[in-house]
Amino acid sequence: MSAPLVLGIETSCDETGVGIVRGTELLANVIASSMDEHARYGGVVPEVAARAHLEAMNPTITAALAEAGVTLDDLDAIAVTSGPGLAGALMVGVGAAKALAVSRDLPLYAVNHLVGHVGADLLADDAPFEYPTIALLVSGGHTSLLLVRDLVSDVELLGETIDDAAGEAFDKVARLLGQPYPGGPHIDRLAATGDPTAIRFPRGLTQAKDREKHRYDFSFSGLKTAVARWVERATDAGEHVPLDDVAASFREAVADVLLTKALAACADYGVPRLLLGGGVVANARIRELAAERTSAAGVALRIPPLSLCTDNGAMIAALGAQLIMAGRSPSTLDFGADSTLPV
Ligand code: KG4
Ligand code: ZN
Repeated sequence: MSAPLVLGIETSCDETGVGIVRGTELLANVIASSMDEHARYGGVVPEVAARAHLEAMNPTITAALAEAGVTLDDLDAIAVTSGPGLAGALMVGVGAAKALAVSRDLPLYAVNHLVGHVGADLLADDAPFEYPTIALLVSGGHTSLLLVRDLVSDVELLGETIDDAAGEAFDKVARLLGQPYPGGPHIDRLAATGDPTAIRFPRGLTQAKDREKHRYDFSFSGLKTAVARWVERATDAGEHVPLDDVAASFREAVADVLLTKALAACADYGVPRLLLGGGVVANARIRELAAERTSAAGVALRIPPLSLCTDNGAMIAALGAQLIMAGRSPSTLDFGADSTLPV
């Protein structure tokens, strides 16, 4: 069988993503983001995201077909994110995918968004990463640590955030420091001239008592509160608030805890590979510390291009293609959107 031509639809958060792949070959990756509409609320508003998906869906599908130079008649299958994510947002993608599949009599594959992030790596230009690998996925919506033994049949969730996602923490702290949404890039910019050792902010769930139950879990809400308290205290005392030092110290705490836990997983499971994904991996310090720590531990590090790390439809199409090539049956049409879909 030649590699299947798959169209993937992703609507779990604020990106309407439609991608087209032939096996592991990337043909199109079109994204319409409603990020700007959420800016004044300081975070993604589910209802706004769902409405934006509905408006963007057809134009994004049309643009992806044009980019790939194919028509609906050429497709072998449709893949769609069925969870986890925002329920209303997911429903728009699932509805569109079902409509396409039924009207064109195409097989439809419901896939998991987090596993999709891992599958994104297959589309990178160079040879794909081998398995098993530990995958650290960090975005505005999730912070998860996965053990991937096989993309199609064996993905285990080792841990995840018990409160805010890492990107959410960046956005909230940026807001506190008077920066616009999304805040991650602004924290990065401020931190560039700051001293990461100026303030010792807490590293969530790294105390001895957390090493058993929450060994691979994350918590960022305490860190966010600690930053708020620090700024409040300095302001009340009439002191100058060094935005660059606060940003650098906060960023250091996030990077430290992410990589400490990811490398603990690599060591515990004897897996010498770490794959990063999600929009937060744009962060300069996370990338730098990942390079330093993996190199010191003899762990190979893989970071796909950023256009594949952020939410996109191509990674969903790629995972759909893997399912087909592994001989998996398509989903029956009775699946819904599952905001807490397990891996
Ligand atoms: O994966 P992504 O594009 O989409 C969603 O989660 O929807 O991730 C967006 C998140 C936002 O929270 C944003 O602030 C964060 O990624 N982000 C960053 C950086 N660039 C984007 N966080 C830290 N440093 C950055 N340079
Ligand atoms: Zn994502």
